[in-house]
Amino acid sequence: MSAQGVNKTRRRILVAATSVVGAVGAGYVAVPFIASMNPSAKARAAGAPVEANISQLEPGALLRVKWRGQPIWIVHRTAEMLNALPTRDSDLVDPSSQVLQQPSYCQNSTRSIKANYFVVIGICTHLGCSPTYRPEFAPEDLGDKWKGGWFCPCHGSKFDLAGRVFKGVPAPTNLVIPKHTYLNDTTLLIGEDGGRA
Ligand code: FES
Repeated sequence: MSAQGVNKTRRRILVAATSVVGAVGAGYVAVPFIASMNPSAKARAAGAPVEANISQLEPGALLRVKWRGQPIWIVHRTAEMLNALPTRDSDLVDPSSQVLQQPSYCQNSTRSIKANYFVVIGICTHLGCSPTYRPEFAPEDLGDKWKGGWFCPCHGSKFDLAGRVFKGVPAPTNLVIPKHTYLNDTTLLIGEDGGRA
């Protein structure tokens, strides 16, 4: 066999060997995955609670996690942010959270379990856009009275740093707070609260 013929044969063998390894590898991975993910397990996983580690969350910063396909925001509110919350009550539609948009343990002045951590579903209550986090005070485009919150770019709804909706915007209600609980000082569990709600 010529040198060229030998090279062609080697290439064919290598291609064939790679295909077999690939197929075996895929089979090896796929079998336990399918076996462990029957339809009910998949449905449970889709609705399962998720953990969020807040140990690195700086004051003023926002952490995003996903639960049931929805964006969940966790904000580490500063003392300045917390002090600002009661100052806008007269401009809000539902300042004391009378409409049931939160579990009972968040129906308080900060809409939270611990005042400095705010957990909320990041979906506008108008038509479901995702509002933009605007934590700054008195930015030029939102005016002198703005003390941090969310601005929805779709139709201009505004929410404060407790997710409470301002008067005169299309969104009818405050942002929704999901069930959650603290597993320890730095770990939140979203979607489960041990039946406290
Ligand atoms: S979807 Fe947010 S204002 Fe319309």
